[in-house]
Amino acid sequence: MKIIAINGSPRRNWNTATLLNKALEGAESQGAETELINLYDLEYKGCISCFECKRKDGVHGKCAMKDDLTPVLEKLETADAIILGSPIYYMNITSSMLALLERFLFSHSIYSAEIPTVYPRKIQAGFIYTMNINEKLSDESGIKGVLRTHQKHIERMLGRQLELLYCYDTYQFTDYDKYESSIFSKEAKAKQKTEQFPIDCKEAFEMGVRLAENA
Ligand SMILES: Cc1cc2nc3c(=O)[nH]c(=O)nc-3n(C[C@H](O)[C@H](O)[C@H](O)COP(=O)(O)O)c2cc1C
Repeated sequence: MKIIAINGSPRRNWNTATLLNKALEGAESQGAETELINLYDLEYKGCISCFECKRKDGVHGKCAMKDDLTPVLEKLETADAIILGSPIYYMNITSSMLALLERFLFSHSIYSAEIPTVYPRKIQAGFIYTMNINEKLSDESGIKGVLRTHQKHIERMLGRQLELLYCYDTYQFTDYDKYESSIFSKEAKAKQKTEQFPIDCKEAFEMGVRLAENA
């Protein structure tokens, strides 16, 4: 059983990556083989609208673009579960994660009234989001409605409901005294980091366990 996590943060060891690694630890505890892919290590673009994946005489389910994302898309094709992780940048997932989803989702959907997806199997996926705003502000902002758009497309393609984890009020810098951050209370941020973040890590671990159990 192979479970792949995709880090859509440019930071390899921060909030999103930490939660993804915890989820993979959970999956490993159930015997899964795991791999973490850092999108910002790769050179690639989003969908260029070539429509090769929609040709009647073409290969459906394969993105025709060839770049660093090509082997990642191949791995996602054979994974038994997928865990996506992205920080929120301006009320959305990062541009690198969005570019991956454009390629992954569009190449597996064809404009057929009968066939909603050409993804070969039904597998489960999880999506972990990290953001600076707290849960109350997040609810007021309507961000979950924005994220629901991608979530629905992923669920339609993979044929299973997504597992979701929202991690709020993240610690953004190593030292709040060194950065202009007067809109935040550094004490409240530190409390969130020491008290809430470990709970989020535990939830990520449990997500990984469930994804492996259901794979
Ligand atoms: C360019 C940029 C835009 C951001 N926009 C938002 C935002 O709209 N809402 C929010 O809550 N946090 C925002 N953040 C904060 C990040 O989502 C948050 O710090 C996240 O946990 C970072 O993930 P990481 O630690 O894995 O890199 C932004 C950060 C950056 C760098």
